[in-house]
Amino acid sequence: ETSNDIILLGHKYPTDKWTNITQNIICKLGKNLHITPYHPLSHIRQRIVNYIYMQFYNRIGNPIFSVYDNLSPIVTVAQNFDSLLVPKDHPSRKKTDCYYINQDTLLRAHMTAHQTELISMGLNNFLVIGDVYRKDEIDSMHYPVFHQVDAVRLCTIDEVFQNVNNTDGLRLFEHRGIESNEKQACHTLESVKVMEHELKNTLTGLAQTLFGSEVQYRWTEQYFPFTHPSWELEVYYKDRWLEILGCGIIRQEILQRTGTEERIGWAFGLGLERLAMCLYDITNIRLFWSKDTGFLNQFKVEDPNVTIKYKPISIYPQCKNDISFWLPEDRHYSSNDFYDLVRDIGGDRIEQVILKDEFTDPKTKRLSHCYSITYRDMERTLTKREVNNVHKQIGNIAAEKLHVKVR
Ligand code: PHE
Repeated sequence: ETSNDIILLGHKYPTDKWTNITQNIICKLGKNLHITPYHPLSHIRQRIVNYIYMQFYNRIGNPIFSVYDNLSPIVTVAQNFDSLLVPKDHPSRKKTDCYYINQDTLLRAHMTAHQTELISMGLNNFLVIGDVYRKDEIDSMHYPVFHQVDAVRLCTIDEVFQNVNNTDGLRLFEHRGIESNEKQACHTLESVKVMEHELKNTLTGLAQTLFGSEVQYRWTEQYFPFTHPSWELEVYYKDRWLEILGCGIIRQEILQRTGTEERIGWAFGLGLERLAMCLYDITNIRLFWSKDTGFLNQFKVEDPNVTIKYKPISIYPQCKNDISFWLPEDRHYSSNDFYDLVRDIGGDRIEQVILKDEFTDPKTKRLSHCYSITYRDMERTLTKREVNNVHKQIGNIAAEKLHVKVR
């Protein structure tokens, strides 16, 4: 078998049948919006880091968390999934959900991909911040590249029970425990409850720091393969509940595998775009990639804590165009692959793609999809001709690459 190499961020990678990274995604590598001075995502990052520094300090007042915000987004399947106990058949591993460089290498789908490595280095308190990549739907809230902050805190028995007067008989681990909704089998209930309390306090405190002390929030139960128990924090914003982060008690098996035997840990992961959109009234996620000074200049402040409400510069007209096609009969088809192809061809001129209609031919039993594609550029009016050209190209390339038959 012959394989072609690709060069990403200055390194060479072999490609294979798993390769599904597109030019549109490759362009985003190394952009590092989260550390670009004055960028709204960078302001939010700074506020979160400042908050964590202030919450956790040592005897002489220095922050105990270290920050990693410049790790390469190219990771192994082992880092992104295996080391985090993600089952081999878990849907998050699918080619239709991730950007693979080859069968062993992908663009990280979450910042948690770095967790075990950093723990193995001996770190006990750290933040990992960067760009993550997922194939997804296309609308004002979703973009295949976004940014996350992950945190890990590992505590010894003395740290867990530091505020308890009589620690006689208190343990982190028990041998014949059973797993329940409240805890993992190996943990004592008292150690988990203390950790849960610190984790939830830290995160509601963060929500109040970002949104104001009046913010309404609630906790919901969640599932992640790498934490148990796990929760999600939601805040009430503009008449609806918004999930802003996932968190939980780290699976002890993960810590054991790194040789960390005497500590128990918590972790959380949150998305920066969602927060920035709420806090700055940014209604479209594509704007974060805008190079327009009309956008960027509105965030040119030294102090990330000042209140900014983004004012849209001008709204260019949108243009909707439908496309219908028969799905291939003899092979797998996923809407996510079509979304990715649309994005690859249309770039940031694509505002939204929705699956409008599904239909099965009563005679032939063939399945047909109809998608509505909304075109709108953030920075100029698109001509009919340009839109028609892109639309036609999408049809042609979908026919060729996804084996659909345009109707
Ligand atoms: N990695 C999870 C996500 O991307 C978030 C998370 C991080 C949850 C750490 C629990 C612990 O959704």
